[in-house]
Amino acid sequence: MNTRIIKIDPDNIDMNLIAEAAEIVRRGGLVAMPTETVYGLGADSFNPEAVKKIFAAKGRPADNPLISHIAEIGEVERLAREIPPRAQRLMEHFWGGPLTVILKKRPEVPAEVSAGLDTVSIRMPSHSVAHALIKASGTPIAAPSANLSGSPSPTLAEHCIADLSGRVDMIIDGGSSLIGLESTVVDLTAEVVTVLRPGAITAEQIAEIAGDCIYGGNYAEAPKCPGMKYTHYSPRAEVFAMKSMENAEEMLKAHGGKTAVIDMNPKRYAADIVYDAGPDLNSYAARLFYLLRRADEDGVDFLIARLPESEGIGAALRNRLLKAAGGRTDDSYA
Ligand code: TXA
Ligand code: MG
Repeated sequence: MNTRIIKIDPDNIDMNLIAEAAEIVRRGGLVAMPTETVYGLGADSFNPEAVKKIFAAKGRPADNPLISHIAEIGEVERLAREIPPRAQRLMEHFWGGPLTVILKKRPEVPAEVSAGLDTVSIRMPSHSVAHALIKASGTPIAAPSANLSGSPSPTLAEHCIADLSGRVDMIIDGGSSLIGLESTVVDLTAEVVTVLRPGAITAEQIAEIAGDCIYGGNYAEAPKCPGMKYTHYSPRAEVFAMKSMENAEEMLKAHGGKTAVIDMNPKRYAADIVYDAGPDLNSYAARLFYLLRRADEDGVDFLIARLPESEGIGAALRNRLLKAAGGRTDDSYA
């Protein structure tokens, strides 16, 4: 398949190019699009054949459901059969933005999208290009992150090109994703509001609007969010998430091969490469997936990365870092 790569400036959208992309979606093709969290690989949510192509292009297990992306809050009604008042409040407060809500699905939502579950996950992105494409397509767009299954989510069009060239109809380059980590996924189908995947919108922020909210805790044991049982974001290097950088030098010196560090405002380290995660948690979040890909490209064998505090987007960062490290921390280093 010949993949068309186009550039659209989020601040000055070329509606002719959007119309071409929307035509691909309407005809059942695949379009990788920028969003404020990460790039998504989109297809018409109501076209089961198109949705199947997403799974094939990514190598994604069929039991892992997809998020449907909409352009207006009212479109939720096309997908969900029940909208509890607290869900309505959350959508009004946080959309467009990095919040995905799980609701009971309408029977019209194809089983391919929901992976056979009775629920549907829905998000309204804030990104201008995603918004324009969904609107022009006239249908909700089912979109997982636009990476091959098992690689880090893409935060640049280059990442989509590396993973999906030749496997999708179009890749829209809209620059780098502002947030850099995937959306917060919140389950609103049970009595208790539960965060299944932490993101830029925190459980505390959700509790303020919904009245109550718990953090889903152990995904591995209770994979309500099916994607959570799969290993993600695993670089080739052996990764350690560092609660403290106290033992960093010792660990780096003890290790052969190519060593690297990821830290905010990094000092000098005895490593072959020191990756700068920027000055704060937001820059760290925006750069993490990019840096994990860089580490692979640079042939890094041993990578240690600072595990930040859990305030704000820190909780999401910790979650992704611990996954990349396969749970290994400086405590478990021996
Ligand atoms: O920020 C994001 O959410 C990005 C952009 C493209 O919107 N999308 C994304 O999609 O990260 P994906 O497919 O890579 O991750 C979606 C996660 C998966 O872990 C999946 O299992 C879970 O959400 N999920 C989707 N629908 C669900 C449902 N009905 N019930 C439980 N979990 C669901
Ligand atoms: Mg993903």
